[in-house]
Amino acid sequence: MTPSHGPLLHEGKAKRVYATQDSERVAVEFKDDATAFNALKKAQLAGKGELNCQISARLFELLEREGIPTHYIGLQANNWMLVKSVRIVPVEVVVRNIAFGSLCKQMPIEPGTPLDPPLLDLYYKDDAFGDPLLTEARLARLALLSEEQRKELERLAFAVNDSLRRFFASVQLQLVDFKIELGFSADGTLLVADEISPDTCRLWDLQVADAQARILDKDRFRQDLGGVVEAYGEVLKRVQGACPSPRFDG
Ligand code: TMP
Ligand code: ASP
Repeated sequence: MTPSHGPLLHEGKAKRVYATQDSERVAVEFKDDATAFNALKKAQLAGKGELNCQISARLFELLEREGIPTHYIGLQANNWMLVKSVRIVPVEVVVRNIAFGSLCKQMPIEPGTPLDPPLLDLYYKDDAFGDPLLTEARLARLALLSEEQRKELERLAFAVNDSLRRFFASVQLQLVDFKIELGFSADGTLLVADEISPDTCRLWDLQVADAQARILDKDRFRQDLGGVVEAYGEVLKRVQGACPSPRFDG
């Protein structure tokens, strides 16, 4: 089912954003498109959009219950959600609990090393530049955020990590790392936006010892391990088992 919506405002690699009759709300359609390595690798994975939408809805509601403000309003259909319109801060905020991925390619840190306290990395969100790692000085030079706003963004990212890490552990999933995006709502509040899904989190099955078999996130696609949609389905099954059904709105 496709909910009624206004014109297309923005199309990204995994989602489309549409206007609604209310200028403070937009409708987000989760696509089945999968991309990796700045879209050098592409595929269509039937069912991925719906899985990510359903997982994100429950995780946004979980964050909301824990006092973390998000853009989420409610589901509209299996792969559609209604969200508050925000001005996205073009910064990808990554929090890492275990060293993996790009960190281990750029630093002499063994994959699998626990990071305590968790490591926070900021990247400039711009595909044309390949989403480069930001320094504090470069972030200041870009003037995307005031010092106070950067502190708030980092505080929210660590709060999201605390909530998600605890929640995922309760369903036998290890939150290795994740990326979030944040945006300013009409009244200037910084909200967690975008999505929270196996596309944007590394999740390992704590019930499985094998280093490849335990991967339940987009690394299955990045590394050609197969079973991507099945892995996302397993994540949804566990999230569903521990969260109330998400609200419908719109
Ligand atoms: P990285 O190890 O490649 O830097 O990725 C860290 C986390 O961020 C991982 O959970 C995957 C997620 N991520 C995205 O959601 N989008 C991206 O474009 C990249 C590079 C990573
Ligand atoms: N999301 C990025 C891309 O589509 C990279 C990634 O997730 O690996 O290229």
